[in-house]
Amino acid sequence: MSTLCNYYLTLTVIGLILTKVVFSEARVEVPELQVDAIRYEYIALQKSLWLYLDKEGTSKSSEFRKVYDSHRKFVNDNFQSNFEVGRYDILNHYEWSLLERDLLQIDRMFDYYQNFMNEHNNTAEVNERAILDICETVLRNDNVFSMSRIFQELELVMVKQTLYYRAMLESTDQICHTQQSAQQFIYSLYSDIALTELKGYTMMQFSWMMLRIYGKGNFSQEVELMRMDYVKRTERALKLLREVMRRADRILWRCDPGKFEQGKNYDEVTRLLQGYIENEVDLNKEETCREDCAFYQSTRSEGCFKDLYCARQPRCSGKLYHCTYVDADMWICPASRNSTRRYEYLEYENGRVLGQRTPCVRGTTKVESWWRYLFWHCSYCFCLCDEISIKSDRYFNLRETVADVDNNRVVTGLRITKQNRIFHLQIQEGELLPRGNINRSSLTWKPVENYQIFDRDVRNGRDYHTLSYESRSMDLDDIYTDDNSFIVVGVRWRVVGAHLNLEAKLAEFDFKMGKLISPETNSFWKSNDNTDVSGERRQKIKLNNPDKSTRTIVKSIPDSRHNQYIDFINTSMDKDAAQSTVPFIDTQEVTSNPPVPLSGVGIYHKGRQGYGGFLAPKIMTYDFTPHVRVPQDIN
Ligand SMILES: *[C@@H]1O[C@H](CO)[C@@H](O)[C@H](O)[C@H]1NC(C)=O
Ligand SMILES: *[C@@H]1O[C@H](CO)[C@@H](O)[C@H](O)[C@H]1NC(C)=O
Ligand SMILES: *[C@@H]1O[C@H](CO)[C@@H](O)[C@H](O)[C@H]1NC(C)=O
Ligand SMILES: *[C@@H]1O[C@H](CO)[C@@H](O)[C@H](O)[C@H]1NC(C)=O
Ligand SMILES: *[C@@H]1O[C@H](CO)[C@@H](O)[C@H](O)[C@H]1NC(C)=O
Repeated sequence: MSTLCNYYLTLTVIGLILTKVVFSEARVEVPELQVDAIRYEYIALQKSLWLYLDKEGTSKSSEFRKVYDSHRKFVNDNFQSNFEVGRYDILNHYEWSLLERDLLQIDRMFDYYQNFMNEHNNTAEVNERAILDICETVLRNDNVFSMSRIFQELELVMVKQTLYYRAMLESTDQICHTQQSAQQFIYSLYSDIALTELKGYTMMQFSWMMLRIYGKGNFSQEVELMRMDYVKRTERALKLLREVMRRADRILWRCDPGKFEQGKNYDEVTRLLQGYIENEVDLNKEETCREDCAFYQSTRSEGCFKDLYCARQPRCSGKLYHCTYVDADMWICPASRNSTRRYEYLEYENGRVLGQRTPCVRGTTKVESWWRYLFWHCSYCFCLCDEISIKSDRYFNLRETVADVDNNRVVTGLRITKQNRIFHLQIQEGELLPRGNINRSSLTWKPVENYQIFDRDVRNGRDYHTLSYESRSMDLDDIYTDDNSFIVVGVRWRVVGAHLNLEAKLAEFDFKMGKLISPETNSFWKSNDNTDVSGERRQKIKLNNPDKSTRTIVKSIPDSRHNQYIDFINTSMDKDAAQSTVPFIDTQEVTSNPPVPLSGVGIYHKGRQGYGGFLAPKIMTYDFTPHVRVPQDIN
């Protein structure tokens, strides 16, 4: 007993020691986020320059050359981008617009400073008066301009009044506008502010150094105070940032477009299950009318008795399901020949109208049921037609789509496209750079596989899946990893039972280096294997009496969760004469700006009550939170 106690005690002590060791190692670690790494590097540079200036016996001109040239180099190496005006304008009704003005002022001053150094790159010829002018502008501290007032203001609003936190809430609501996940929005905001602040800080340090070189004073106390202040402010900002980023959502999805345009921002599965009028006499081989419509739950169109209405419409050559009786006589308004609809609307004699009654371009046809031998009613039934034809687009690509990992490319965006009547998951790929960056100019949409259903060597079930009455479900999943050293490099659909099921390929990478690590071996496909009958059962999303998705006036909102599924079904009889297949498919691209690596992808449903809604892809941006390191002490 006592030995056991000792044992645990020893373990605890070792644990404590280990924690301490790990902890103290974390203290000296170089920051991982881009802007933090740049700041860290500058503070090291600044320290070495002051040490150099404190040395006795260095000539003024070599001091000048050293400070000037090392600043020019540092600035050119690290500050390429400018603060983008209006990028955070969803924050304008907070205290943001004033801060933005201040940040722009620093940015403009910095541009001048950087241009000056690049235009005067020969230190022997730099004019002292011009340098002193720069120092004066930068170190100005009055009502018109004061860098330290701006720094205080930034900390007051962003950190003390927690605008970072409010910005996270706001951007979650405004995802249509920002094209960034909430976490990304916060991270960009922080990076932009921190980079601009660093620009201000380097200009101030540069100015103090120059004044020292020109013999205007010692300034070592001012400089040290300023550095300590800066380090403290950064520490407080990072602490808050980490908390806010931890809570921030990383999902990014697209809102409905301003105007729906088929083939451009949405597409449809067509003629999967479509309303179809057929007389009972043609629903059985015997040409009888002994049953009622509801008797025919799964049948075929077997003939065309006496060339009645059946001869005047294209016959359904597939199977017929779920026939119902509405009323004996009706007027039928056929759709135009090139349409995927069969009917615009049907109007029954009892007044019921299926579909939207509009002026009928091709003219209506009166269709009347009849009696046979006084006791058999040969009624016109309303059935659903499942017919594979040239007008029925119902194919989903099953081949995998993987980024060019050999050239260090990863998936940065996703969309669904229809090509050669086949729906494909298409990826945007981009070159991975250090610290979670993506090379913007390398972004491309990888062309989808250009095959046709009827090509040789192309097979149903292997290359593509064909939807049918029996197999028409789409699994709705978020496929992602919690392991921060993996990112998405590919996607594909597979068929599980009667369901289309999303898979994502994840590959290991090195965050700081920005390199995939042997992606051929260190990668795997991930999916959610639950079905509606096994595992943690999937739930079905039901569409209730849906109209065509594009008729909604208000914008769709996501209404599905992970581990659900949805069936493609016919639209409502009353609203659309069951002529369309829903949900529709949102084909807008889902990408973030700026581009980032992804830790996951998903398929979800969005819609509104009474409409079919849309299936759409979503992306989950890489989690930067573990890379936010709060420095204990940058000494
Ligand atoms: C200095 O600037 C001139 C033009 O302003 C440029 O041609 C030259 O390459 C620059 N030299 C260095 C060392 O940057
Ligand atoms: C500036 O002051 C610090 C301490 O206040 C001192 O250590 C340093 O030698 C001084 N440097 C010069 C160049 O006077
Ligand atoms: C069908 O054809 C008509 C003219 O014949 C044309 O106005 C209409 O845009 C076409 N519709 C589709 C969906 O192609
Ligand atoms: C970014 O991509 C472009 C085009 O592929 C390439 O020319 C450029 O060198 C890349 N930049 C970096 C930093 O890798
Ligand atoms: C699809 O059409 C059938 C007609 O056979 C109808 O009973 C059913 O209600 C329709 N589905 C929906 C969701 O309206």
